[in-house]
Amino acid sequence: EKEGYEHFMIKEIHEQPKGISETLMRRLDKEDNIVLDGIKLTNEDLENINKIYIVACGTAYHAGLVGRFAIEKFAKIPVEVDVASEFRYRDPFIDEKTLFIAVSQSGETLDTLAALREAKRKGARILSIVNVVGSSVARESHDVFYTWAGPEIAVASTKAYTTQLTAFYMLALHMATIKGNMDREQYLQILKELKTMPEKAQSLLKDFAEIQHQAAGHFNNESVFFMGRGVDVHVAHEASLKLKEISYINSFAIAAGELKHGTIALIEKGTLVVALATQDRLYDKMLSNIQEVRARGAYVVAVAKEGNKEIEKTADVVLYIPDTMDELSPILSIIPLQLFAYYVAVARGTDVDKPKNLAKSVTVE
Ligand code: M6R
Repeated sequence: EKEGYEHFMIKEIHEQPKGISETLMRRLDKEDNIVLDGIKLTNEDLENINKIYIVACGTAYHAGLVGRFAIEKFAKIPVEVDVASEFRYRDPFIDEKTLFIAVSQSGETLDTLAALREAKRKGARILSIVNVVGSSVARESHDVFYTWAGPEIAVASTKAYTTQLTAFYMLALHMATIKGNMDREQYLQILKELKTMPEKAQSLLKDFAEIQHQAAGHFNNESVFFMGRGVDVHVAHEASLKLKEISYINSFAIAAGELKHGTIALIEKGTLVVALATQDRLYDKMLSNIQEVRARGAYVVAVAKEGNKEIEKTADVVLYIPDTMDELSPILSIIPLQLFAYYVAVARGTDVDKPKNLAKSVTVE
């Protein structure tokens, strides 16, 4: 079933353009309106919602962080995001005016399911973003937004993540139009860009020689850290999780602005830093952060948008993604970093699809 690929993970990385496209195109009508499989989200419903909680675990949680960014930015509704195992035990403030969004590939993650039940008991409206049709999370939700990623076999989640992002952008755009917070022109402009994602993602999968080269040069590193600003921080967390779970390298992620508040103490000659610098608004700030770590001997692999060439002067290597709107870049910027994690793990000879101590879906506490 690997269709010629060495592992499910790399096969699934390559299936992302299709997953993104299916998730998006199946829900657009001829006039480019978003049609959400009967999900009931009228203006009146949204008027009755004063808060959204997004709750999930692992990679799905990282998708939720980008989801918050999109919903707050486009729809202007306040959002909180939490990992399910924390949400359950902190007595969150929930009532009938709460929209609870559960995110789960499998739909069987115990903590996510328990959080959902708790929110439902307190009267929240439950919407879930789920990949597995008919799973427990889907069955227990009032509304379900299915991601069309297709079956995800590798423990490391890849195509589920990019389709969850796509789902969030669609929900955010939909909510924004219903609430009247976005005019038609702006809506169409963002949607048009969203429609280019499958093709842009595809272009990132063609040319991975440099990524393989970097992976070969760094697979023996003891630790790696990822940094970014704005929505890039969330991608940094996801990239770091991907690397650690399949390569067993100690990796973590920080908001680049936090460097001086502690992490910079760790930098020594040869420390590998992966710096995401895809946000136009924060680009100069990221360049200074890169300079700060390089001045202390770090080796910097940067991820930037095509055309932003100045970064070549500051970073050791730049992995480019196609130009896009700042808001949508997470769909693209994660791809070179999924590939990096994959090739590092392959070079280390780990069991890529079934990393030690991990299960595909965590159905225990
Ligand atoms: O099935 P779910 O999306 O609920 O799973 C959540 C996490 O267990 C999952 O994303 C996990 O973190 C992956 N191994 C990450 O690659």
